[in-house]
Amino acid sequence: MALTIDVTGKTVVVIGGTSGINRGIAELYAEHGAKVAVASRSQDKVDDTVAALKAHGAESMGFAADVREYDAIVAGLAQVAETFGEIDVLVSGAAGNFPATVNAMSPNAFKSVVDIDLLGTMHVMKAAFPHLRKPGASVINISAPQAFLPMQGQAHVCAAKAGVDMITRTLAMEWGPDGIRVNSVVPGPIEGTEGMARLAPTLEMLSKVAGTVPIGRLGQPGDIGMACMFLGSDLGAYVSGQILAVDGGWSQAGCGDMSSFLGKMLRQMGG
Ligand code: NAP
Ligand code: COA
Repeated sequence: MALTIDVTGKTVVVIGGTSGINRGIAELYAEHGAKVAVASRSQDKVDDTVAALKAHGAESMGFAADVREYDAIVAGLAQVAETFGEIDVLVSGAAGNFPATVNAMSPNAFKSVVDIDLLGTMHVMKAAFPHLRKPGASVINISAPQAFLPMQGQAHVCAAKAGVDMITRTLAMEWGPDGIRVNSVVPGPIEGTEGMARLAPTLEMLSKVAGTVPIGRLGQPGDIGMACMFLGSDLGAYVSGQILAVDGGWSQAGCGDMSSFLGKMLRQMGG
């Protein structure tokens, strides 16, 4: 008998789901019959994404909120739960990034990334808890290789995403008794995304990065979406507290030369 993942009628929420990788995850769930809600700061991006998800035939809704504003996230998630019911799969992926050495960034620059990635994740987790299906919900935090690999120009992201993974591991223990699983997915270098545009801004850098991925190609949002499909389903019923790299093996070799690329680029820019 074939193994299947059936997400028909499931409620899926993707925070930061209006572009790039996270939007790819939202679209994959919508294509396969889930009810999908997205949120991010820009009302225009929310509207555009909801329209695209509906075009896939999905029930969809969204709200504009900044993950740094806890009350706005509480209100938005309450509205989603009232409309779509208990949340089966929660993906938390809002993030900010820019390459800058510590010497070239203000305390507020460091804080802005920590506030979005780390505090924002905590806000999303805490606000979502009352609405998560118990038992049965699957929570997925979108992390990054910087969580476990130091990278020049990325101290803020390294610190914040390491914190995200520790929230994942802690909540796997705190929420396990409620039947909720919590995992992180660590994307590799994903083609066509804002993250890669910022970290590998030239074609030369991008092709160097691609050449350092053991599997021999950049990733696609769908690669990350498929990992979320697995973690969100009963096929992953016994997986919790894990940090799953979905990166074609990239992080095994320290993400190629990413750290030295960035260090060199920032030194050339005077940072
Ligand atoms: P992206 O397109 O810039 O997506 C970021 C999303 O988060 C957008 O929907 C953005 O929408 C939202 N967002 C940003 N700040 C927010 C805030 N303060 N409050 C609420 N929403 C906010 O980036 P991406 O490159 O696809 O990255 C997506 C995730 O994957 C991130 O968690 C990133 O760390 C991780 N990642 C990416 C890569 C990669 O190769 N790109 C590699 C490893 C990990 P608004 O602008 O409307 O707020
Ligand atoms: N180098 C150094 N400092 C920088 C910087 C850079 N390239 N870009 C921003 N900053 C600093 C700003 O100067 C400011 O510090 P200051 O107040 O001391 O001057 C601080 O960061 C906050 O910037 P601001 O633009 O006010 O923040 P914001 O909340 O509007 O935006 C960012 C947050 C900076 C993370 C913005 O890049 C963003 O919205 N990113 C979301 C998309 C993204 O990063 N996608 C990739 C995900 S992997």
